[in-house]
This record gives sequence, structure tokens and C-alpha cells, in this order.
Amino acid sequence: MAAKTVLKMGDPRLFEVAIPITEFDTPQLHELVRDMHHTMEALNGAGLAAPQIGVGLQVVIFGVTRNPRYPDAEEVPYTVLINPEIASLDREMEEDWEGCLSVPGMRGLVPRYKHLRYQGYDQYGKTIERSVNGFHARVVQHECDHLQGILYPMRIRDMRNFGYSEVLFPGQLVQDE
Ligand code: NI
Repeated sequence: MAAKTVLKMGDPRLFEVAIPITEFDTPQLHELVRDMHHTMEALNGAGLAAPQIGVGLQVVIFGVTRNPRYPDAEEVPYTVLINPEIASLDREMEEDWEGCLSVPGMRGLVPRYKHLRYQGYDQYGKTIERSVNGFHARVVQHECDHLQGILYPMRIRDMRNFGYSEVLFPGQLVQDE
């Protein structure tokens, strides 16, 4: 198994709505999760959704470990999330910069709900249910958007806040999601 090619914005498969997983703990599902994991690691991403490797199923992975290269990044536990449902806990939103492996080299300022509850399943069918805030909530919303065929540039309020990483953040390494 190897890292897969990540589809880039413009590919119509990124705009399709993904379908739910109906069978858990199958060799096919484990292989998909492994492929996604290898792909995300190879590209040093913070998250990846199955449609990004051309698989139209409701599977996302994400996780951010403490990394000296990103001293400000909050830690997010590595999570495999299948058939996710998310609900904001209140109406409060905040804007922050996002990137995406399907939109390489770019960053945009995106509004997201600050407080969120999400639930879904891991690859074994075990229920996951969490209430999260801030960056963790942002990553989940970004990845779940992929399952609805939404890329983060579609959520930017002011397109002047969308641009090349090297121009917006000169000299900084920034992580794609
Ligand atoms: Ni993305």
C-alpha cells in the first residue's frame, strides 16, 4: 500500500456528496483507512477525506501532534471518523486560516463554528462522540465539508483573504488540512 494521489480543486469528484459506510471492520474499509493514513502522513497533512483520493465514501481522518515546526498548533488526537454528524453547540463563529491538500500552496480565512459536538464511528464500528472547541472543531468542520462536496475556498467571506501561503506567511511553514 502506498500514498495515493490527492485530487486537486477543479476535479469534479471533489464536489460530489459522499455516501455512508454500511459495513464496518471489513478488509476493504481497513485498506481505505490505511491508504488515507499513508497519504496524509506522506504530505504532512492535518486531515484527509476519502473523496480527496477519489473514494466517494463518508470516511475522514485527522490528527495533529505537537510539532516544533508549528508551535502554535493545538494538539488534535488522531481520529478515524466515519458517517459523521456534526452540530454546533451555539451560534458563535470565528475566522482563522485554513489550507487543504486539494488546494496546495494556498491559505484562506474561513469562518467556522467555535463549539461543536460530533459523532460517528471508527473503522471497527465503535461509536465516537465528542464535544470540541477551536482548532479541533475547525479541522472536523473542514473534513466533514469534503463529504458534502465543499472545499474551504467556497466558505471564504472576503476573497481578498485567499492567497498563496508564501505571500501571506512569508518564511513560514504552514500545514495543509
Ligand atoms: Ni481539505
